[in-house]
Amino acid sequence: MKKERENFGSRAAVIMAMAGSAIGLGNIWRFPYMVGEYGGAAFIVVYIFASLLLALPIFFAESIIGRRSGANTFGAMETLAPRTRWKWLGLLTIVSPVIILSYYSVVGGWSVEYLFKALAFDFAAASDAEVTGFFGRFIASTWQPVVAHTVFLATVAGIVLAGVKKGIEKFTKATMPVLFVLIVLIAAYSLTLPGSRGGVDYLLRPDFSKLTPSVVAAAMGQAFFSLSLGVGTILTYASYMRKDENLLASGLGTAASDLFFAVLAGFAVVPAVFAAGLAPGAGPGLVFETLPYIFHKMGATLPWASAIIAIVFFLTILVAALTSAISMLEVGVAYLTEEKGMDRRAATWALTAFAWVVGVLCSLSFGPLSHVHLLGNPLFDFLDKLCSNWLLPLGGLLFTLFVGWKMPRADVYDEFTNGGTLRANLLLFPLVHFLIRYAAPVGIFVVFLTDLLL
Ligand code: TRP
Repeated sequence: MKKERENFGSRAAVIMAMAGSAIGLGNIWRFPYMVGEYGGAAFIVVYIFASLLLALPIFFAESIIGRRSGANTFGAMETLAPRTRWKWLGLLTIVSPVIILSYYSVVGGWSVEYLFKALAFDFAAASDAEVTGFFGRFIASTWQPVVAHTVFLATVAGIVLAGVKKGIEKFTKATMPVLFVLIVLIAAYSLTLPGSRGGVDYLLRPDFSKLTPSVVAAAMGQAFFSLSLGVGTILTYASYMRKDENLLASGLGTAASDLFFAVLAGFAVVPAVFAAGLAPGAGPGLVFETLPYIFHKMGATLPWASAIIAIVFFLTILVAALTSAISMLEVGVAYLTEEKGMDRRAATWALTAFAWVVGVLCSLSFGPLSHVHLLGNPLFDFLDKLCSNWLLPLGGLLFTLFVGWKMPRADVYDEFTNGGTLRANLLLFPLVHFLIRYAAPVGIFVVFLTDLLL
């Protein structure tokens, strides 16, 4: 008794929705501070290799499963491998996106707060000490970040409630092109700042002596996080794709725009950090702590330009975060409506409520609950590490094993090449299948193991 499923309306819409999911806080907030923390250009080089050799094959594996089955992550496993233990992979991927959503929404809330601060011209008006101290005080407070988290999450739920076509597709289509223009402008501005040269060198001159197993593992985790892999987000979106879409093209298009966007964000953030004489290794606060300082300094001489750049910047982060967060919620909503017969409204609110509660605890873990540790980390850090370092690689590994070893090669071939009708796909199929079957799983496993043992 299958319900009629919605589909994305056009090829451009699919790529934009996938890119909308991929491009988010991972690119603008997480990537620059990871680059700063893990040694600059060398991290970027490893990140690019991890994206091409490990992440892209998972992207293809998820799209193949999603479109072949035309179902949510759980239903996909039941359709392609009925009554096997693979259903646990389906279940894993229902749980993890909602966990990610809960702490992601906290950072989404930060961008809401900062947008309001920018709109109020706060960065120019405050004193040096106020600007640098603001982030620490804000995240450690009880109510402000919780309210911001609530506003962010409610917006996400509202968009998902409107449905795939009217909500996600419309929203993403309207905002993604604007986003590209904005980040290019900000990067260009950042490069004109006196003293930004050091940042450019930092981003372009790799020092490979800094590479350690944990740098490689972090680069891999970042690549998976950035492409929304390992938890069935891409699988679910691919299940909304029509049979005549090209999986190779949408995968390459998404990966290329995601990579391009991350590097642009790096160029927007890191040179500005150097120009201000600040340290790139400041951690998760990098974007929220150092950029307001830069807007503040600039505000002394150019108040209007500084205010406008600040508003545009935090608006950019917010929009990018929203398009990603809706993709996390959609995975669970697809499961609950299709497998459990819940209506879309109930499913959306149930998952939102769960993410809200966990998110509130994450938010408080910077303040009143900072003494509560799980395996040595406050809740926010614990969940981020659990997801990026463990659940995403594990999910990704299992998706590649499923397509590489469980699905008949003929089915994979049929799906990837649209029944043998696409030329470039036919040509690349042996390589892609090799990557999915051997290179990616072995690579992920080795990175996992060396990080664990060394
Ligand atoms: N890729 C998004 C970003 O870079 C975040 C994201 C969306 C995600 N869906 C996901 C991360 C699923 C992991 C899994 O911000």
